[in-house]
Amino acid sequence: MEFWSEETIENFRRTLLDWYDREGRATLPWRVDHDPYRVMVSEIMLQQTQVDTVLPYYERFMQALPTVQDLARAPEAQVLKLWEGLGYYSRARNLQKAARFVVDDLHGHWPESADDLQVLPGVGPYTSAAIASISFGEVVPAVDGNAYRVFSRLLKIDADIAQPKSRKIFYDAILPIVDPDRPGDFNQAIMDLGSSYMTAKNPNSADSPVRAFNAAYRDGVEIAYPVKTKKQRPVKQLYMATVSEKDGRLLFEKRPDTGLLSGFWTFPLEEIQNIEQIVGEQLHIKPIVHVFTHRRWEIWLVKRDLPLTDNRQYLTPDQWQHLSLPTVQHKLLNALEE
Ligand code: ADE
Repeated sequence: MEFWSEETIENFRRTLLDWYDREGRATLPWRVDHDPYRVMVSEIMLQQTQVDTVLPYYERFMQALPTVQDLARAPEAQVLKLWEGLGYYSRARNLQKAARFVVDDLHGHWPESADDLQVLPGVGPYTSAAIASISFGEVVPAVDGNAYRVFSRLLKIDADIAQPKSRKIFYDAILPIVDPDRPGDFNQAIMDLGSSYMTAKNPNSADSPVRAFNAAYRDGVEIAYPVKTKKQRPVKQLYMATVSEKDGRLLFEKRPDTGLLSGFWTFPLEEIQNIEQIVGEQLHIKPIVHVFTHRRWEIWLVKRDLPLTDNRQYLTPDQWQHLSLPTVQHKLLNALEE
């Protein structure tokens, strides 16, 4: 990761904001008026929807419901109608819940910090930072996909953005760079960079106003940023779980000391390659599914007898209820009860 001196940081702020003042989209309706209600509505609409698509919706919404009180009092059907076509309708419902919270619970007084704004339904770390910086001048970075992309390239941040813990790495890296006098404009200038010169595909860093600050571009590795691992699909495995009952007791097996669920008691589990290998009386027409981070188990419950071994024991309900059983075993027991 690159280290920027205080001088570089100041140069960067000046370069970025000069460009924003010259060429930024200052006329976007949520940039003209920094009323927190207007900013909140814009930020919620702009989640997963492009600026050009949002604009007509935003104008109509503001005409119909110009204040937070109007939104709080509006029939839900009207809000959903205004949202029709934007998709993700839970955003609209949460938006109205947030408006009601401000009006009814906070008597119209907005929380003014990013931390406090997160009490509002649908307002998470990004949206709260956007509102706090744009409407209230709080010096916080608004870390969305644009900020990940822009700063991962500028600073060559190698943190994997698919990992939740990377948010803090980016937040901590960006915080000292945010312009203390114009935090809202700083954050919005980063958004504009991310949707113009520093796009995901086909970036145009050669002409970018912040070209001189772009370490990934300098090193010819821009397209490797941001680092994002693909979610690997869990590997599917088939298992047979043996249900063997004796005098009201059930056969359990202690799993080996290594590997998945090491040391836990479960029904004896045997991996099979296909369902033709099932032996014994099949107790369900569908397998019980349990997903671990890297594995997806499809478990068939079968009734059959198995020889006792060192790691197997018949347990009474009272005995197994006193063990700490893994979730997957609870699922098997529940399925057996049905
Ligand atoms: N995307 C998310 N928030 C935005 C904003 N305030 N301006 C432009 N694009 C955005």
